[in-house]
Amino acid sequence: MDATQQKKLSAQAAMKFVEHGSVVGVGTGSTVNEFIPLLGTRKHDIDGAVASSEASAALLKQHGIRVLELNNTGDLPLYVDGADECDPHFRLIKGGGAALTREKIIAAASKKFVCLIDHSKRVDVLGNFPLPIEVVPMARSYVARQLVARGGHPVWRPNVVTDNGNVILDVHGLRIVHPEETERDLNQIPGIVTVGLFALRRADVVVCAGETLERA
Ligand code: 5RP
Repeated sequence: MDATQQKKLSAQAAMKFVEHGSVVGVGTGSTVNEFIPLLGTRKHDIDGAVASSEASAALLKQHGIRVLELNNTGDLPLYVDGADECDPHFRLIKGGGAALTREKIIAAASKKFVCLIDHSKRVDVLGNFPLPIEVVPMARSYVARQLVARGGHPVWRPNVVTDNGNVILDVHGLRIVHPEETERDLNQIPGIVTVGLFALRRADVVVCAGETLERA
């Protein structure tokens, strides 16, 4: 089964977590793009959605789903999103689609984070996928030096400005054995807006190719 078919199965399986009358947090990326049309079939049954990117907001609207502001909804019962890597403890690397900051905010504000993946995303140790970090533009070189000092090889993602007006550094060469420690450490560097490690607030449920996985 190819990755697209696996993503479709995961998106279908996620629908069972959507509650009547609720507001659903919706992430960003090709996997979530399989979920949004399915959510559209229940647009009259839900209250609306909070989007983690302008791209997802546009797709939600295309499918007739009311897009709400997190500032007006309060905390959400459910957040559905994809990931670039997922370890056996449901810690994630995210941000391949440059939406990591809003994704992290919605994940934090949600009771249940359901992460949809295909088999290619499953890893034992995070870090093979370059770690995305959103950075305030004027801090780019300073932050890059801090990352080099920690053994990483940051690469400025070309032609990308995030929805928040920032840039992305993709950090290669990290083997993230202690993701919570690494997330805490990188969070301290001035100029970093968001680290694409979702370890402190990891997924609650992971669905891989339609199968709900158990946390190790
Ligand atoms: C966007 C993300 C995505 O969830 C991640 O990149 C996975 O994308 P896809 O579903 O296209 O494989 O973090 O910032």
